[in-house]
Amino acid sequence: MNKKVKWGILGCGKIAQKFALDLAKVENAELYAVASREQQKANDFANRYNFKFAYNAYNLLAKDKLVDAIYIATPHVFHKENTILCLKHKKAVLCEKPFAINLGEVTEMITVAKENNVLLMEALWTYFLPHYQFLLEVFQSKKYGELLELKADFGFKPVKNQLNDRLFKKSLGGGSLLDIGIYPIFAALSTLGVPQKIEAKASFFDTEVDSECQMLFYYKKAKAKLKSTFLEETPTEAIFKFEKATLILNSRFHQPTTITIKTPNKRELLDFKYSTIGYNFEIEHFNNLLLENKKESDLMSYEFSKNLIILLDKVRELINQNC
Ligand SMILES: NC(=O)c1ccc[n+]([C@@H]2O[C@H](COP(=O)([O-])OP(=O)(O)OC[C@H]3O[C@@H](n4cnc5c(N)ncnc54)[C@H](OP(=O)(O)O)[C@@H]3O)[C@@H](O)[C@H]2O)c1
Repeated sequence: MNKKVKWGILGCGKIAQKFALDLAKVENAELYAVASREQQKANDFANRYNFKFAYNAYNLLAKDKLVDAIYIATPHVFHKENTILCLKHKKAVLCEKPFAINLGEVTEMITVAKENNVLLMEALWTYFLPHYQFLLEVFQSKKYGELLELKADFGFKPVKNQLNDRLFKKSLGGGSLLDIGIYPIFAALSTLGVPQKIEAKASFFDTEVDSECQMLFYYKKAKAKLKSTFLEETPTEAIFKFEKATLILNSRFHQPTTITIKTPNKRELLDFKYSTIGYNFEIEHFNNLLLENKKESDLMSYEFSKNLIILLDKVRELINQNC
């Protein structure tokens, strides 16, 4: 099929801008419309990134009969509501991570997608990046034996005094765990799977969202040490220790990066020659699914997204931060 996918973006915030830049580089994607709660913001975004239409309400984008796919780029707490709005208008939805705020919400979104026979996928872009696919191939092939240990962190210091920022606001699903802790957890889930036991501890801002979260995932023959923090810059690496080699997904492991492979007598650096921000890979996968009339991704499956949110729920239960 030669058709182009007509894309809409719902919510014109920070990530929507990066997404739009890579969307423009995807051959079978058309930058069609954007929606913001404010007309001027929508107009500015549409002009800057070359979208044809700019709506001042999310439901106008959902209702537009010509839109094929909608990217949800609002704070986590609105993902369920925004996604369901679009699904009910038969739009395919690519929704930012975390898919929603808890398992109940994710289950509801998946149910509505199935009821409406529409494609829905969590936008966990890291999974689709070539360096991450390389890591998964190494893991599955057992080229370097079993994976014994994973150490993954993600930390940065958001600008202070921005207490209105969604990262600090409980009502907007703030906190390091849901925002960036999801990536180290994703690294563990996509390789070692669902752990047998979890330990977690956290510290909190005055706004009651977690400022830092440390987690230990225990598996039958492996262990994962994971951390997210808004209190310090950390290397943001993922170190996979196999029996015969260590693979380091260099800083920052969740985005386009290099991989160092260390064996007892060799050290090798793999450069994946990225030329985009990295969102094009998930978009290309999503476009292909849509053009093949598929309703669920075989890579970022509903089962995977459910397991991911179950782990986030479990950690939040352990640190007494329920949403
Ligand atoms: N995949 C990635 O690399 C990545 C990176 C960063 C963030 N994210 C995810 O993307 C989502 C958005 O993050 P962001 O950093 O882009 O956030 P942001 O800059 O705060 O933008 C969020 C947008 O959501 C809309 N919105 C609707 N209701 C809102 C409300 N009550 N308060 C604030 N904004 C509201 C706003 O758009 P309008 O004003 O136009 O309506 C706002 O600009 C989050 O779920 C986050 O986890 C993913």
